[in-house]
Amino acid sequence: MKFFVDTAIIDDIKELNDYGLLDGVTTNPSLIAKSGRDFKEVIAEICGVVDGPVSAEVAAMDYDGMVAEADHLSKIAKNVVIKLPLTLDGLKTCRYLTDKGIDTNVTLCFSPNQALLAAKAGATYISPFLGRLDDLSLDGMELIRDIRVIYDNYAFDTQILAASIRSANHVKEAALAGADVATIPPAVIKSLAKHVLTDKGLDQFAKDWAATGQSIL
Ligand code: E4P
Repeated sequence: MKFFVDTAIIDDIKELNDYGLLDGVTTNPSLIAKSGRDFKEVIAEICGVVDGPVSAEVAAMDYDGMVAEADHLSKIAKNVVIKLPLTLDGLKTCRYLTDKGIDTNVTLCFSPNQALLAAKAGATYISPFLGRLDDLSLDGMELIRDIRVIYDNYAFDTQILAASIRSANHVKEAALAGADVATIPPAVIKSLAKHVLTDKGLDQFAKDWAATGQSIL
C-alpha cells in the first residue's frame, strides 16, 4: 500500500519524507486555506520535496474552467496530479486530461457508481472519502470493498486512494480491503508506529542494557 500525506504543511511533509514513509501528497482547497499560503507556491515547494505524485485541486466548477486551471497547475512540476471533483464536468475534464497523458485524482467519491464512472473516465486515482461517510453513521469501508470488487471485475487500472482517513484503524481496514493508496493526516501516519507494548519493552531493554554497563561503540 502506498502512503500519501494529506496536508499542505511543508514541515510535516519534510519530516515524513525524511523518515522514508512518503509515496506522495494530497492537498485540497481547505488544506491550502489552513496553510495560509499561496496555492501555486506551496504546490511547487511540495513538488521540490517529494518525488511522488502531488495532488493539486482545481477550483473551477465547469469544464472549460477546469481545463484552463489544470493546464496551469500541470506546468508547476512534472509530478503534479490534477485533482477533479466527481461531477459530470469533472469526469469530462478527467477524460480530456487522461487522453493528454496527465494524471488525475477524482475526489469527493461517496458511491460505487461514482467510482465506476471515474474509472471509465480514465482516472489515475479515485478518492473515496471514508471518514465523511462514517461521520454520517454510514460504512466508509464498505465503499472501499465495493470499489475493489468492481475494479477487479473489469480490470480497471484506476488506483483506489482511500481518503478522509481519521484513525490508525482506518488505515488497517483500508489495507485489508485492498486500497492501493491511503492518504493520511501526518499525526495518523506517526501514530501507526506506536504501541504500548513497544514502549514498555523498550523501557525494559534500556534498563537491562544500562545494568550491563556495556557500550556498543
Ligand atoms: C483527500 O484527498 C482529502 O483531501 C481528504 O482526505 C479529506 O479528508 P477530511 O474528510 O478529513 O477533510
